[in-house]
Amino acid sequence: MRWWQWHSLAAAGALLATLAAALALTVAGLRPTATERGRPPLRFGSGGSFKVALFADLHYGEDAWTDWGPAQDAGSDRVMAAVLHAENPDFVVYLGDLVTANNLPIPNASLYWDRAVSAARGRGIPWAAVFGNHDDMPFEWPPEWFSPDGVPPLRCPLTPSMASSGCSCRGTPRIDLMTTEIGNNRLSYSSNGPKDLWPGVSNYVLQVLSHTHGDPALLMYFLDSGGGSYTEVISSAQVKWFQSQSQFLNPNGRIPELIFWHIPSTAYVKVAPEAKTEIRKPCVGSINKEDVAPQAAEWGMMDALAKRPSVKAIFVGHNHGLDWCCPYEKMWLCFARHTGYGGYGNWPKGARIIQITENPFSTVSWIRMENGTKHSDVTLSS
Ligand SMILES: *[C@@H]1O[C@H](CO)[C@@H](O)[C@H](O)[C@H]1NC(C)=O
Ligand SMILES: *[C@@H]1O[C@H](CO)[C@@H](O)[C@H](O)[C@H]1NC(C)=O
Repeated sequence: MRWWQWHSLAAAGALLATLAAALALTVAGLRPTATERGRPPLRFGSGGSFKVALFADLHYGEDAWTDWGPAQDAGSDRVMAAVLHAENPDFVVYLGDLVTANNLPIPNASLYWDRAVSAARGRGIPWAAVFGNHDDMPFEWPPEWFSPDGVPPLRCPLTPSMASSGCSCRGTPRIDLMTTEIGNNRLSYSSNGPKDLWPGVSNYVLQVLSHTHGDPALLMYFLDSGGGSYTEVISSAQVKWFQSQSQFLNPNGRIPELIFWHIPSTAYVKVAPEAKTEIRKPCVGSINKEDVAPQAAEWGMMDALAKRPSVKAIFVGHNHGLDWCCPYEKMWLCFARHTGYGGYGNWPKGARIIQITENPFSTVSWIRMENGTKHSDVTLSS
């Protein structure tokens, strides 16, 4: 099906939805997201390839009242600039924890979120974002602020009367962060996702069209793996949404599919090399410094994915001390690479790169470091 046919089908679907309440749930979720807002469709380049850079765990805005915090943010700016310069990707995926909202004593976390996405925007590269567990957390008062040195100056009101004026330290809700990003940025392909999946917000699909014929040649699914203001989990409603989307867009599994979310699923624990041991084949990576910190439960997403041979790989962030890919069933489970100077861990910073080739189809990946070196090449499908 061509993408313009998909548009008219979606329009017909929207009409049906008004007639049948039972259908409304599914059909509304099938409407296109970014292209509907006037974004041009994403396409493979003239050489038939499409390159994606994953920026994971930037953690902007930490400790903004110290010297340390702003210096970390400047470091994260540098890492992204170096990676974009070296790789010149077609697309950027911000893989969650763009900001550390629980450590951000200003009412509007969008100010720091915007700094994160400015790396792609500044080079004219389109992007999409998913939420991590820190993006909408409420501000936590550091214990030392109750010591004799006291509370440093805040841009966040302390008295109840100021809080009742609408300004508080409660964190910026997911919807506000995303709505601001989308509204301010022509290059943003992010989406708030269907309302019936809330509180999960970053649930949407992007199609990448072939450079020869106009049909989709790659589907990228983005899911909100929770955390922050609610449990770290992918809900069974999200599983159903994925099933209906994939069935609608790719019924015979002809189009390869890649999946992006923030918190590793419990399947990552099953395939993980033992923490702090060498990463051995078939896994590929360079750091294995900690245990996988998985989602709180598995409610069917991995089964839904494993049933589809068209699903080639899942990409997550969250664990700053892991950067491996391991096979699982017929797909690969990959960590990105900690990109930001914010957040725990002093391992050198970098970004996972994914290069997809259309014909013959292949997905290869590697990690590009801040200092320009490249390592951990792996073929995820061919
Ligand atoms: C927060 O900051 C963003 C980016 O500067 C701005 O577009 C948005 O309107 C602000 N939101 C609020 C609630 O002040
Ligand atoms: C780049 O950083 C890596 C650590 O990721 C280090 O092993 C390597 O020696 C560095 N290379 C150069 C040329 O600085």
